[in-house]
Amino acid sequence: MPVIAWKEIYETGIVALDDEHRKLIDEINRLYEAVRDKRGETVLGDILAMLESYTVDHFQHEEKLMKEYDFPGLADHKKVHQELIDAIQDLKNRFTAGTEELARELLKFLRVWVLEHIIDVDKKYGSFLESRGGRFIK
Ligand SMILES: [Fe+2]
Repeated sequence: MPVIAWKEIYETGIVALDDEHRKLIDEINRLYEAVRDKRGETVLGDILAMLESYTVDHFQHEEKLMKEYDFPGLADHKKVHQELIDAIQDLKNRFTAGTEELARELLKFLRVWVLEHIIDVDKKYGSFLESRGGRFIK
């Protein structure tokens, strides 16, 4: 599994949200490097804590913009966000001493979830919001 490189296909078109997505991918890459070097358990607690605050802040940001510009897919998008919040919580509940296995599982989960979510779900609001408020809305 190589480190995730940012690609144009990940761009929603909304600069502030793309910046937040980039930061998340940086964190996934940090986890990747740790797992590759068999020290995943040393960063696991950090990454889980980061994810907890990131998901709150980032999802609120996306949902605020979708609401502000009357994006019709808001309710569905919120459901998907809640699923991720629940999945992270579940992983957190299983995190006691922090094992390599859990670190690997989290990495696998995030790689699939984040990229799929950005490409399949977030991109739906991208062009919509861009047409309403422009790419520099915050
Ligand atoms: Fe989203």
